[in-house]
Amino acid sequence: MARGSALFTAAKPIETAQATPHDGLLDRLQRHLLRLPTAPVAAHTQAAFEALQRELGPTPGALIFDSGCGTGESTRNLAERHPEAWVVGVDKSADRLGRHRSALPANARLLRAELGDFWRCAVAAGWRLKAHYLPYPNPWPKARHYKRRWPAHPAFPWLLGLGGDLEVRSNWRLYLEEWQVVLASLEIPSTLAPLPADSAPPLSPFEAKYLASGHACYALRAALGAGGVPAPSWSAYQARCEAPEVFSRPVLAAILAALPAAHPQREPLAEALAAAPLRKPAGHRGGEASDFLSCDLGPGGREVLMQALEQALEQGGEGGDDPALTLALRALRSR
Ligand SMILES: C[S@@+](CC[C@H](N)C(=O)[O-])C[C@H]1O[C@@H](n2cnc3c(N)ncnc32)[C@H](O)[C@@H]1O
Repeated sequence: MARGSALFTAAKPIETAQATPHDGLLDRLQRHLLRLPTAPVAAHTQAAFEALQRELGPTPGALIFDSGCGTGESTRNLAERHPEAWVVGVDKSADRLGRHRSALPANARLLRAELGDFWRCAVAAGWRLKAHYLPYPNPWPKARHYKRRWPAHPAFPWLLGLGGDLEVRSNWRLYLEEWQVVLASLEIPSTLAPLPADSAPPLSPFEAKYLASGHACYALRAALGAGGVPAPSWSAYQARCEAPEVFSRPVLAAILAALPAAHPQREPLAEALAAAPLRKPAGHRGGEASDFLSCDLGPGGREVLMQALEQALEQGGEGGDDPALTLALRALRSR
């Protein structure tokens, strides 16, 4: 390439048929707040987090995450701007991380990890952020891919849980508007503004590329404060409790107790009872007895259980008016 010529090919403008924030976003958010991910964290991410934890200590002081840091240029820039903080750049791509050339400041670290899992490890360890940067995350511009965008992602509750001053940058304004919609639904105010074209040197390679290609770039900012994973809304909780595959703990326990030892439905019922219940909305005062749990009974499973309960009630005979069983049968019939 000739000296002085562009260092990269111009970036194409975002191509999307989507004109407004996706209308599935809030439903996704509430679904994730009701049931936090429980799948095991990827082993490489767990190991990367534990190594970082050993180095920074259990409560690392001022901490900034650069999530999706790519080559780590933004991590270096942020670390220079914030000498008082640890700045941790995280990316899943070993290839991008491996392209980092210049020496990092002493307060910067780069590591390879899956972001959702990494955020979850950090929340579980009680870490809270001073600031959280997401420069140019993949926006997934096709409408049908909206569930892959961070505001609709199962890991979004962990991002909220980390707290701190959030800054997300993108050359797709609508994507940042989606962040605003989701944050506003949790009563978290945010601002969305274009980056001045002649602003400070670009934060990251993607920013440099977009600005050099004449794209407008935007920053969304929100103060997530002390963090903590928000509770679901009352309306989402009530709607979920009425779903056909969701039962109260006493109902599931009564069904399980009534089933003969070798009954095939015992296993899913026992698993459901051992799993975490739906998270409750703020102000809910009920204890364990008011828990609701998901239990997939499979095709025809509900009918099989109703039969088993009817038999158990019959075998109870005249003196066998078991209120727990009657309640459980009513719950099955009403679904
Ligand atoms: C468009 S690039 C932006 C890179 C850099 N922030 C910049 O502005 O130059 C998005 C980056 O996010 C990373 N990424 C996307 N999803 C990720 C995930 N689930 N976990 C970790 N990194 C992820 C990709 O590997 C990629 O490096």
